[in-house]
Parts: sequence; C-alpha cells; structure tokens
Amino acid sequence: MRVKGIKVPKEMGELVRRKMIENDLLSIGMRIISDKYHIMIPIKEGVDHSDLLVLRKTFEIIDMDVDFLDQRPKSYKELIDIDHSLKKLLPSSYDILGDVCIIKLNRKLIPYREKIASSIIEVNKNITKVAIDNGVKGEFRVRDLDVIIGSDDLETMHLENNLRFKLDPSKVYFSPRLATERMRIATIVKNERVLDMFSGVGPFSLNIARHGTPREVIGIDINPSCHYYFKMNISLNGLDDNVTALMGDSSDIVPSLDRQDRVIMNLPHSSMEFISIALDVLHTGGYIHLYSVMDRSSILDTVDRIIDSGRSSGKKLEIIGSRDVHNYSPTQSMIALDIMVK
Ligand SMILES: C[S@@+](CC[C@H](N)C(=O)[O-])C[C@H]1O[C@@H](n2cnc3c(N)ncnc32)[C@H](O)[C@@H]1O
Repeated sequence: MRVKGIKVPKEMGELVRRKMIENDLLSIGMRIISDKYHIMIPIKEGVDHSDLLVLRKTFEIIDMDVDFLDQRPKSYKELIDIDHSLKKLLPSSYDILGDVCIIKLNRKLIPYREKIASSIIEVNKNITKVAIDNGVKGEFRVRDLDVIIGSDDLETMHLENNLRFKLDPSKVYFSPRLATERMRIATIVKNERVLDMFSGVGPFSLNIARHGTPREVIGIDINPSCHYYFKMNISLNGLDDNVTALMGDSSDIVPSLDRQDRVIMNLPHSSMEFISIALDVLHTGGYIHLYSVMDRSSILDTVDRIIDSGRSSGKKLEIIGSRDVHNYSPTQSMIALDIMVK
C-alpha cells in the first residue's frame, strides 16, 4: 500500500516515532521500513498537513510502499469477550498433541468452553480438535477428556525431537511437556542396555534409540493401547532393530530380563513402589531416572526414602542430579531424580 511517510536518520528514529505516537500521527498497523541510514515511518491516514508542520521543517516527507503488520492476536485470551473476573481464570497454557489441544478449565469457565475452544483454534491454525482435561485416571494414567470442538476420534500424529508418535490421548498417556527431559536422557546414553519400565507409547525409548547410542532398549507398558501405538511408533520411526516393546506388568516382566545399565521410571504417582524391582535388574554402576510428583517442600524426604529402599535391597545409592521438570500444582512439581547404584 502506498502512503505518506517521514524519512528520519536512524539515530533519531525512536525519538520521532515516540513524538508521532504522542501527537497521534503514526500509522499504527503499518510496518516501519529502513535503509542503511534512514528509517521511513508511515504517517496516519487523514492527518492534517498543518499537524505535520514541525516535522516537515526538519525531515523529508516521502511516498512509501508499506505492508500491514501481522495483527493476529498472540494469545487466545485476546479473542474472548468475557467479564474481567473470569478472564483472570483463563489458563495461560495448554497441551498440544498433534492437532489436538488439551486444556484444563476452572468450572466457572465451563459455560464459555465453545468460545474458548474456537479462540484457541483461531490462534493455532494446526489445531482441529479441543478437549477439556478432567484429570488423569486409573492404572493406565489416561486422561478423562470431553471433546468441545472437532470429532470425537482423537487419534493424532505428534512430532517430538524429530520423531513421529501416533497416539490417541483418550486411550494412552502422553505428556508433551517432557520433550526436553527425554532428549536430555537420550543424549547421555552410550553403549548401554536401557529399560523403560512404564513406556507409554514409547517417547523415552524412541528418543533414546534415535538420539543416544544404546546397545538395546526395552519398553514395557501394561495398557494394551499403549502397546499397540508403541509398536506402531517403533516402525513409523524405522527403529525396529533397536527397540523392543513388551506388554504387561513391569513387576512380572522385569525380574525375567537380563541385567540393565539404565532404568527409566516414569510413573509419577507410584514410581517409588517399583524401585526395588528396578534395583534388582540393574548392574552396579547403573542408573535410575525416576520421575515423581511431590510437594516441593518434601523432596528431601523422598530422597531419604529412596536411599533407605536401596539399603533394604543391599545397594548404596547416590542422587547425582535432580530437576524440577514442570509445575504440577501450586505446591507440587514433577521432579526428576538421577540415581546411581554404587
Ligand atoms: C505416566 S505414563 C508414562 C508414559 C511414558 N513414559 C511417557 O513419558 O509418556 C505411565 C505409564 O505406565 C503404565 N503402567 C502403569 N502401571 C504399570 C505397570 N505396573 N507395569 C507397566 N506399565 C505400567 C501406564 O499404562 C502408563 O502408560
């Protein structure tokens, strides 16, 4: 679009831009352009020539071709027209799995769920389905989801760290918030046997196989849907020779396996119950990566319990690293503990 603009030496650009805003002379929705020495600032349409007198005396007025700034809202919150007290309750984040958005809503926002869902789709063109998360439930740790927009079939393809994961979030557990943590573990694995005791659809196992250099990776899950997608994801990513998916209860399967160098325990509410099984299958000098949801004030108690369970299994354990992976509630976090068997 062709508009009038002011050509200003670069060093004076910010000053002039501010003066133009103060005097309501700046065309807000247009892009400011520049060359080596000048910036060209678009003038608001319809501005009276007399208002430009001062600027005219000092700077050149030019005709310039400009684009509109991308004015898409950055957050879905900007699109929702609801009372201020409710707006404060809108969540700042949500999970995206492929083309599915999963969001937790305060019950006061439930009457506005369609509005919220369509606003999310408006700012994320890749999302086609939005579901409310009513919490993770049962032994399989599957989310109870209510679809607000889109078809009830939530099967999707999720991309993480250059890997493809086919999954249905209403049938299997998957958290995209662990992508960085999975990559961290993957890159420390060198020529080891790795056991992923609660594999889900295989994100730890496949990240390790793709980004680490394991000798072998075995993943176990008790949920038949996880096993189905895990096997599919192994093939989808061309890792059939590197990863084995087993279905069943880890307490039954792990004791029959060969000795392992590293065990991943991602069952955040009950990993601790399985620690002696993991210790029995590990070599001395091996590692456990244990994920547990805990009160931030009770991390040291958990560490003591881990050291004690090592003692009961006749092993000396050392916590060699810990990280707050993400917040779980106002007082709780998902904590990752790196444990070495001495
Ligand atoms: C929190 S999910 C973790 C999934 C995966 N590691 C991830 O990062 O997405 C825990 C998984 O453990 C599985 N599970 C629960 N109890 C189990 C058991 N006793 N043996 C094997 N798997 C189990 C559940 O079915 C669930 O898929």
